[in-house]
Amino acid sequence: MKIGGKNYQSIWRKQHTIFIIDQTQLPQNLVIQQIRSAEEIARAIKNMHVRGAPLIGVTAAYGVALGLLSDPSDKNIEFILKILADTRPTAINLLHALKRMEAVLKLTPLTDRVGAAWVEADKIAQEDINQNLSLGNHGLRLIEEISKYRKPINILTHCNAGWLATVDFGTALAPIFLAHKKGIELHIWVDETRPRNQGLLTAWELASNGVPYTLIVDNAGGHLMQKKQVDMVIVGADRVSANGDVCNKIGTYLKALSARDNHVPFYAAVPSPTIDWQIQEGFGNIPIEERSQDEILMNSALSTKKKYSLHGVGHPNTLNPAFDITPARLVTGLITDKGVIQPISSTTMMQLKQD
Ligand code: MRU
Repeated sequence: MKIGGKNYQSIWRKQHTIFIIDQTQLPQNLVIQQIRSAEEIARAIKNMHVRGAPLIGVTAAYGVALGLLSDPSDKNIEFILKILADTRPTAINLLHALKRMEAVLKLTPLTDRVGAAWVEADKIAQEDINQNLSLGNHGLRLIEEISKYRKPINILTHCNAGWLATVDFGTALAPIFLAHKKGIELHIWVDETRPRNQGLLTAWELASNGVPYTLIVDNAGGHLMQKKQVDMVIVGADRVSANGDVCNKIGTYLKALSARDNHVPFYAAVPSPTIDWQIQEGFGNIPIEERSQDEILMNSALSTKKKYSLHGVGHPNTLNPAFDITPARLVTGLITDKGVIQPISSTTMMQLKQD
């Protein structure tokens, strides 16, 4: 996608160096970070220099390739897989990418492992681009359908599931970018997405591509739906269980509840590697990451980076779950790279698995 007229991906490589856009610096500064070791990759994922389920998976795959440069032994592979797997617990794309790398490397003789690792990591990255483009085209057809009745179409999105969360194009934003390119009149409601304000990344992506949007606080969505100012909701996903429960950024569930109460269609954009076929349902089975209290106590969007405090009694207690689970019954459809399906029907989920 474009930044200031120039094409970028969120991650790329030149020989044995990985380049990422440091997302903790956006949207204020565009900082390109070079990475040359598996340990640095692990830190970049953990500290959210890269974020978003598909991008986390691809970055980890490159981490494996970097880690092998010094030592391609089985023992080192195990070590690298562990430090990368321990970075973030919720997005399943991370474990899927690591399992793929492990499977290939186990079958490859020691002397060929470095080359094989780069080939496989590049493949995972390219597949992500293709999946998002395909998913985008399926989502575009939904938007085209609604655009017959609503002009402009008002779409609400939560967190950042744009190109920054993937290698390119994005998941939830892919249909939006394609619809905009096709000349369909759109307006996007962008949830701020406290505590880390990923909505600002979404706003930045939309602005850079000329898509009209309005930034709103997280709690405004229900109100706007009651006023009939939202025609559809599209969010991304970090992990979807076999029955179609959608785990996504904290606050997604509340959007789905409001959407159901107001008869607004609620879609999740889900590339294949985001589906966890090993677990039947989301509740109790998907680990929900709990992040630092600083994310709540320090509001990075405020110019004064002071910690909140309760006067005289110190800091408030905090709890910072980063994701929640929206049950399949509240999801109108999953926009996947293989088509749009209704998760509520287990037959369609099984069909998707077999394809
Ligand atoms: O904690 P993050 O920023 O990595 O979480 C990302 C999300 O939850 C996004 O909403 C998303 O849809 C998954 S990535 C396409």
